[in-house]
Amino acid sequence: MLRRTILAAASSERTRQLVSRAPVSRSVVRRFVAGESIDDAVKVTRQLVDAGLSVSLDHLGEDTTDEAQAKAAATAYLTLLDRLGEQQLTASAEVSVKLSAVGLGLDSSMATEHARMICEAAARAGTTVTVDAEDHTTTDAALSVVADLRRDFPSVGAVLQAYLRRTEADCRDLAQAGSRVRLCKGAYKEPASVAFDNAPDVDRSYVRCLNVLLAGPGYPMIATHDPRLIAIAGDRVAFYQRPQGTYEYQMLYGVRPDEQIRLVTAGEKVRIYTPFGDEWYGYLMRRLAERPANIAFFLRAVVSTK
Ligand code: FDA
Repeated sequence: MLRRTILAAASSERTRQLVSRAPVSRSVVRRFVAGESIDDAVKVTRQLVDAGLSVSLDHLGEDTTDEAQAKAAATAYLTLLDRLGEQQLTASAEVSVKLSAVGLGLDSSMATEHARMICEAAARAGTTVTVDAEDHTTTDAALSVVADLRRDFPSVGAVLQAYLRRTEADCRDLAQAGSRVRLCKGAYKEPASVAFDNAPDVDRSYVRCLNVLLAGPGYPMIATHDPRLIAIAGDRVAFYQRPQGTYEYQMLYGVRPDEQIRLVTAGEKVRIYTPFGDEWYGYLMRRLAERPANIAFFLRAVVSTK
């Protein structure tokens, strides 16, 4: 309920202005975002890799409304991938792309073309791309772009959201050899007609999807911080006799860092989704909505600046 209220408030332009201009916002942002520049992204990637973690970098931005902005977002990825290659970080670092940032809302062929340029740059640099999942109105388009890209770049990953009623069926379609699938709960405000609207149902769907992915020959990317789901994933991995390295865990930058290290120490592959850039508003609001304690953290920071 609180999550839905925060996500609804976050879509108001007035809230956006208030939060974006609050002096405290930047210090809160730093907990979840690597920084604004490509240099910041490369520096944080190096720190995470040195700690034994893998990385997926996300250039912040979504719902792009003009062509120049979509092109600039794609170009930022090309520059980033060149830098990651030069710095020999591509064995451990890939990129995550939101199709709406590279023009999906304007013209799907433009978004596909931009995504293809990013995949080519990733392949040149020795790494790959995962296409993020956004709200349910874009799911068919995103999965069709992924299918198209995978013909030339088979390692391109898709993201599926367990809160969507359709996702178990999508898992069955995508549980194919070589197919990288990130399974997350889902972070957008969705109607009950398409999404489970309570936490236990979402968790049950997550486990059903996890079973489908782990039973298949693909490469599941288990994206959650939920201690119960991580324990269930460990159990299911053992049940399906999946050797370490045939799947990975994924978490967000700044969320449960101790758990990230615990899993790495246990020999697991753990990839940290690491956003950077100045378009942090939508991303920050989804992180605040996930956990009431984050709102308290935000408000404490406001009070301490007064
Ligand atoms: P849940 O929200 O139930 O949290 C479980 C526990 O984790 C909490 O009790 C708390 O301890 C901790 N926690 C979770 N979120 C926290 C936060 N923000 N701050 C502090 N602690 C927190 N979504 C989407 O719609 N499309 C996408 O493409 C992606 N991509 C993606 C990549 C990766 C690597 C991850 C980990 C997540 C995503 N997500 C996403 C977000 C995802 O859908 C979901 O909203 C969050 O991961 C929170 O869900 P959890 O599974 O962590 O469980």
